[in-house]
Amino acid sequence: MGVIVVATGNVAKFKEIKEILTRHGIIARMPDIKIDVREGVVSYEENAKIKASYLTSRLGADALGEDSGIEVPALGGFPVVISARFIEGSDRDRNAALLEKMKHIKSEDRKAVFKAYVVITLKDGGYLTGYGELGGRITMKPEGNNGFGYDPIFIPDGYDRSLAILSGDEKNTISHRRKAIEAVLGQYVKYRV
Ligand code: IMP
Repeated sequence: MGVIVVATGNVAKFKEIKEILTRHGIIARMPDIKIDVREGVVSYEENAKIKASYLTSRLGADALGEDSGIEVPALGGFPVVISARFIEGSDRDRNAALLEKMKHIKSEDRKAVFKAYVVITLKDGGYLTGYGELGGRITMKPEGNNGFGYDPIFIPDGYDRSLAILSGDEKNTISHRRKAIEAVLGQYVKYRV
């Protein structure tokens, strides 16, 4: 069975990624070293690759890096690659700040999309990339306690509840990260499994 080191310190993200890798017969490991990289503002894909290749070069193992964010077309795409850090503070603070920015935007214009890039860097050189997205809309106020990040203020298309009300399994079935991981694993299994 293949082993992949997952380049994230975010326990909630690791759990989501591990569940998907396990279903494919791959063991997910959290790194025992700090991922000492600086994320840029260029692209999700570049950030995902920086994180994975750091671990591959330090540990000599296949590594998976992920970078994701939310984009709101009514705000010109904001906050994109700075989704995790457009203001200092907690996820709750960022949700409140995004809702405040959108307080005058009507429900029909509150569309948003989560995007995720997943890169697997291979210990024997090269890398593979997968992409996934999940469309939906931003709520008027936070709803639910599950998940992390923007989950409480995001209702996926085809649903009437936020991602933070859906169960972990329901989210993992439709998520941008799941789609990106499936896309990259489709290529990875040809190498390793
Ligand atoms: P990063 O990929 O760790 O840089 O995080 C990107 C930002 O998007 C963070 O603020 C996350 O909380 C947010 N984000 C990424 N994926 C999700 C998700 O599945 N649900 C909620 N927020 C997310």
